[in-house]
Amino acid sequence: MVEITWSEKMSVGNSALDWDHKTLLDLLNRFHGVAAGQVNPSEVPALFTELVRYTEYHFQIEERLMRLAGYAELDKHKEMHAALVSRLLAFQSQYLEAPERFNFTAMADFLSDWLVRHILREDMKMGEVLQSVAKTITRRSAPSTSSS
Ligand SMILES: [Fe+2]
Repeated sequence: MVEITWSEKMSVGNSALDWDHKTLLDLLNRFHGVAAGQVNPSEVPALFTELVRYTEYHFQIEERLMRLAGYAELDKHKEMHAALVSRLLAFQSQYLEAPERFNFTAMADFLSDWLVRHILREDMKMGEVLQSVAKTITRRSAPSTSSS
């Protein structure tokens, strides 16, 4: 069982997206808490709902930003998001079918590992493009000043 917390090396250069990544890792750590008996089992269904909703919300935000930035790998990135959401929903139904047999550690390990790899490989690339687009727009639209 590996609890992973967000660290600066995972920053994609966008504080809102970094915040979401921290929140998602914290939510996954709560599933580790379930396995460790630190979270009341009655809270698990709501925890699943929160994880699914937050993941979908966060992926939509990233996809909107990529679209606005004209990101070349948008489709590939969207496919990865969709695959992860399907996996997450499969975990949720597995849990609902047989809560007593559900392996929370295996799920939390799989999802946090996926998320960290995704942040470090894919979201980093996206973050660089978002930042360069933001710089271009800022430079173009800045009013000229007497000092420049
Ligand atoms: Fe992403």
